[in-house]
Amino acid sequence: MAELEIRDLHVNRDGKEILKGVNLKTGPGQVHAIMGPNGSGKSTLAYTLLAHPKYEVTQGDILLDGESILEMTADERSRHGLFLGFQYPTEVSGVGFSHFLRTAYNSLSKALEGDDREVFITVREFQKYLRGNLEKVGLSEEFLSRYLNEGFSGGEKKRAEVLQMAVLRPRISILDEPDSGLDIDAVQAVAKAISQVSSVDSTIVVITHYARILKFLKKLDYVHVFANGRILRTGDASLADKLERDGYDWVIEKAAA
Ligand SMILES: Nc1ncnc2c1ncn2[C@@H]1O[C@H](COP(=O)(O)OP(=O)(O)OP(=O)(O)O)[C@@H](O)[C@H]1O
Ligand SMILES: [Mg+2]
Repeated sequence: MAELEIRDLHVNRDGKEILKGVNLKTGPGQVHAIMGPNGSGKSTLAYTLLAHPKYEVTQGDILLDGESILEMTADERSRHGLFLGFQYPTEVSGVGFSHFLRTAYNSLSKALEGDDREVFITVREFQKYLRGNLEKVGLSEEFLSRYLNEGFSGGEKKRAEVLQMAVLRPRISILDEPDSGLDIDAVQAVAKAISQVSSVDSTIVVITHYARILKFLKKLDYVHVFANGRILRTGDASLADKLERDGYDWVIEKAAA
């Protein structure tokens, strides 16, 4: 169980202010969606939450269960249960996918001692656990013997990010456009995989441009409109449909007025 709170967050990249006062609070088990125009700062927010060194917090705070995590490095944040599924996953040659998943899973389980997590002692047990999750996201077992993301197609990389989330079961997952580049069937499969993780008491924040993936989620508590470096409006699931129909201008104009 975990609570993430973002308070008046201002962030610079190369001296340019990109986030201009983001406020967001998530409760345990909640599912949030963030939608907004290209270049508005959604990925910047995601990177900042996971301590990307190029993003400088100039004002505000990020709290996990009431405590600031600003001083924590990326690996410390992930040991506290934060996870980021990248918009553009990186190919990591030389790092076997299955080895990576097992190592990450085990160190997270060690760090989150006290959470109700299965412990897999043997490689075989873990492989069995992986197999079930591979099926969920529609990747074949062959991928496990490849290097992380190396040569994966765009859609396969996206599925691999969601696979990581399903396998690791972090407390708070931020998924940056998990649906971009996915084929029609995969969008539904990925949404289902997300829903399964969210049902076990973990918070999920989905950044997306499309209402479609959101429709397949079993539960969606809040939809936030992100524009010009901040959240301008928050609503329920119906807001996603309205945005898809009417675009963002009306939100931006209202906020300016
Ligand atoms: N090094 C940099 N110098 C100046 N501006 C930058 C730099 N890096 C990123 N930006 C700008 O920051 C803004 C926010 O980018 P970000 O990737 O967060 O947008 P986004 O909301 O995720 O967009 P998309 O929906 O296209 O993924 C963009 O206008 C981008 O050009
Ligand atoms: Mg982005």
